[in-house]
Amino acid sequence: MLSPALLQDAAERFGTPLYVYDAAEIDGALGRVRAAFGDARVFYAMKANSNFTILERLRARGVGFEAVSPGELARVRHLGCAGSEVIVNGPAKTREEYELGQAMGATFVLDRLSEVALVAPGTAVLLRVNPALDVSTHDHLATGAAKSKFGVRLEDVERGVKLAREAGLVVRGLHVHIGSAIREAADFGMAFEKLAKLDVGTIDVLDVGGGWGLDADLSGIASKARQARDALGASELWVEPGRYLVARSGALLTRVVGLKQTGRSFVIVDAGMTELMRPMLYGASHPLLALYAGGTEGVFDLAGPACESGDLLASNVTLPTPSVGDAVAVLEAGAYGAAMSSTYLSRSRPAEVMYDAGAWQVIRRRERPEDVWRAELAEAPTLA
Ligand code: LLP
Repeated sequence: MLSPALLQDAAERFGTPLYVYDAAEIDGALGRVRAAFGDARVFYAMKANSNFTILERLRARGVGFEAVSPGELARVRHLGCAGSEVIVNGPAKTREEYELGQAMGATFVLDRLSEVALVAPGTAVLLRVNPALDVSTHDHLATGAAKSKFGVRLEDVERGVKLAREAGLVVRGLHVHIGSAIREAADFGMAFEKLAKLDVGTIDVLDVGGGWGLDADLSGIASKARQARDALGASELWVEPGRYLVARSGALLTRVVGLKQTGRSFVIVDAGMTELMRPMLYGASHPLLALYAGGTEGVFDLAGPACESGDLLASNVTLPTPSVGDAVAVLEAGAYGAAMSSTYLSRSRPAEVMYDAGAWQVIRRRERPEDVWRAELAEAPTLA
């Protein structure tokens, strides 16, 4: 991450709240993925952060994209991606996604058997497997459990592959993604082993998704993935990391608006659930970096501006007592920070800036109030 002095500089220049990214950190994370996974093909799960500058940076380094919405697909099309660079996934793909993805020649991940009828013969597909596994993460972040909505049940996979082949689809292989922010490499191993036991005939791809916690043992996960790939007789391993590639590159900068004592000690800051939803939504704890010297240490809750009691960026954190105007960096916010921000309370979204090769670059300007309400006003009708 960037030095405290640089973070302070960004807060001064661009104002707060502000998302800042360190480009070198993204390159570093990609380097670690490549070191662990060797020749695996990397498809960035762009939901983690779909800012064009980040997408372009990854693309220039040979990374493809996993897109899960019409908007994400529109972004990859805007970048000019070839079909070979794109995986289309999601449990509720729209007609638009089927059409656009097929026109591009993208690979589709089928999430249920009835999707076989929704793609044209000749389309390259992977079948997503639900390995029915409980994993070490927050309930909302688990996607491979028996009760989760994703993927095809293990017992239906062989039949599904057969159906897809009969329909003339090109079944390139299997896909599995067991959840996000997973701490234990063993969880991945158990999932991959279940896939490795399936008998699906000749396939060339095993896509093991993403989901790696920031401190995950990547080489452990990679070796288990390779074992499963070999057991299935596939030649290619595909991975779809989101968080791992961008989380540590980003911080949310916020300034202290006031201190107050109720039944708890609050530091009220100018960012909250609208800028970083993860603490409220998943009880996630993001490390804080005080960008001030401050007074004696205290234990505080960092609360945002929303009129919601759950609007906390951190709770029970020990910090030097700040003064009004002091800045705090909320770290590990590069993934699912800006991407999940909202305009609740008609709050304009913050700017995003990237530090690259010794200089700041504004990669998304701060929104203005009219950006938030523009779609409500009468517009000239557009012809289809
Ligand atoms: N592949 C598939 C099919 C996915 O559904 C996801 C994430 C990924 C790859 C990337 O997972 P990652 O490497 O980022 O863990 N909003 C949540 C995370 C939701 C992830 C959803 N799917 C959060 O803030 O923690």
